[in-house]
Amino acid sequence: MPSLPPAAHDALNPSEVRLVMDRRGSTVWDVTTADGRYAVKAGYPIEATEHWSAQPWTAHAPGREAAVLAAMNTPVTTGTWASGTWNAQPWHEGPDLQQLWERYRLPGSAEPIRMDAALECARALADLHARGWAHGDVQPAHFILGLDKTHLIDLALTAGPDVPADVDFPYRGCLVHYEAPEISRSVLETGTAMPTQAADVYALGASLLMAARGRRYVVYPDDASRADQRTEVVHGVRRSINVEGPLHPLLTAMLAYTPRGRPTITEVVEELTGAHAGQSRSAARGMFPGSV
Ligand SMILES: Nc1ncnc2c1ncn2[C@@H]1O[C@H](COP(=O)(O)OP(=O)(O)OP(=O)(O)O)[C@@H](O)[C@H]1O
Ligand SMILES: [Mg+2]
Repeated sequence: MPSLPPAAHDALNPSEVRLVMDRRGSTVWDVTTADGRYAVKAGYPIEATEHWSAQPWTAHAPGREAAVLAAMNTPVTTGTWASGTWNAQPWHEGPDLQQLWERYRLPGSAEPIRMDAALECARALADLHARGWAHGDVQPAHFILGLDKTHLIDLALTAGPDVPADVDFPYRGCLVHYEAPEISRSVLETGTAMPTQAADVYALGASLLMAARGRRYVVYPDDASRADQRTEVVHGVRRSINVEGPLHPLLTAMLAYTPRGRPTITEVVEELTGAHAGQSRSAARGMFPGSV
């Protein structure tokens, strides 16, 4: 089992350490200390295999994320370890969007989708956009819906006004299920792309569809290579958006092929605010299940 980078251990003096995940280029721990709870992330390079080429940038991701968090005034500690960089950031307790919406994906579920969580996620992304940043890696697992606040995590690829050159590295796209066509096209043609707020809006639309229905928007086999997935995102078949109510036209607009066809995140928040208010009125009249 991987253990905390020694410098992170020394900086935090933990009373409890729990491994959260360890996969391709990154390890995350949930660390309890006398001062509170932290997420510690350590990056290391991905070696080449027959399925993918080497990806040295993953070693630098926690260091880059620390710089973005610091620019957002989030308390963060960072350093290096034998294989790369690490950071320690505040731990956010709560389910992520994919976990929270599991009940909508159960076979036979016809439960109307509550707008409150969708609105929370859109507001979290709107906060980031309002400061002039683009997240670059929006996906359902990156929204943690805490009791106090919804947090948009994993700022390792976030682009904006203030990333110091010594921690920066080129953006090579994100999880392809959530990648906008113009990003996929650029990665296919040049190997890199530029995160944008319009691509984030597409990714939020794809995330809401995935969390609600468990379906990728673009059709490709589960075992398709990254390049084949991106080719389908650029040229391939889109699925129907199988959600009802106000979410249907909103997701249709957010998932528009061209960036200019998509609403801004401010417009998304406005639409969801109206939809949420409508559900609350229906709930008050006993027409919608659950208190909203
Ligand atoms: N600040 C945090 N608070 C709570 N949990 C966190 C936090 N940061 C990360 N995690 C947990 O660790 C997981 C991985 O974190 P993150 O996405 O930031 O790392 P990653 O290396 O980019 O992984 P991935 O390749 O899956 O995106 C998250 O999905 C979440 O479960
Ligand atoms: Mg991540």
